[in-house]
Amino acid sequence: MDFGMRNRLNKIFNPDTGKTVMLAVDHGYFQGPTTGLRNFKQTVDPLLPHADCLFVTRGMLRNCVDPKTKTSICLRVSGGPSILGELSNEDITTSIEEAIRLNASGIGMSIFVGAPNEDRTIANLGRLVNEAERYGIPVLAITAVGRDMARDARYLGLACRIAAELGAHFVKTYYCEDFYKVVEGCPVPIVIAGGKKIPEMDALKMTENAIKEGALGVDMGRNIFQSDKPVGMIKAVRAIVHEGATAEEAYKIYEKE
Ligand code: R5P
Repeated sequence: MDFGMRNRLNKIFNPDTGKTVMLAVDHGYFQGPTTGLRNFKQTVDPLLPHADCLFVTRGMLRNCVDPKTKTSICLRVSGGPSILGELSNEDITTSIEEAIRLNASGIGMSIFVGAPNEDRTIANLGRLVNEAERYGIPVLAITAVGRDMARDARYLGLACRIAAELGAHFVKTYYCEDFYKVVEGCPVPIVIAGGKKIPEMDALKMTENAIKEGALGVDMGRNIFQSDKPVGMIKAVRAIVHEGATAEEAYKIYEKE
């Protein structure tokens, strides 16, 4: 791995701990003005200093993020369908040149294993890795879930492994029972998405379990920005990821905010 690739990965994964708290705020790329992100700047500005990396689309980055930020950027580069369409019908929407121009430390796209367009999205991942490696840019593969697929270790393990085999440098997936089996079968770092908003304690417990079972961090959105105390919640998640706090200890941080 050359310097550029390693340097960018170190902007995403905090070199002090080898882990990352990514703040996912890309939801609008298919959901439009999602709850919590309608006024993007108002929500994201106070959270940004507490994230190692912001996962975002180019449009929101260009229009709503202060270029003075010290937080690194991972750019979502896939899209196409809205929430009303066939979600797996995604293509690459943002070029490598744009990612470089925006000083992205990484780029991310979804693969839809078990969905109508799985073959195209997986082939797109291979092509994106080919291009990104030319410029030393790490690629995050996001294992989106086919409508009828259970979010279990067998299915998520399949999707994560395929992503790694195709060359993804890190993978985002969901936490599930026997998550350690997903980690075991995937030779590249895994970060977990938070999924739908759940009670804060449950989200913190899930984070604690994921880290204990081998995740190297989170790329979390709704369970942070839809919380009644978003700053408290991201600080709590940080304490688990970077300091090994328990969910109970982290909950106190959330409450205190
Ligand atoms: C899907 O919309 C995106 O890839 C999100 O970045 C991902 O699902 C993480 O966000 P959340 O924690 O809200 O699931």
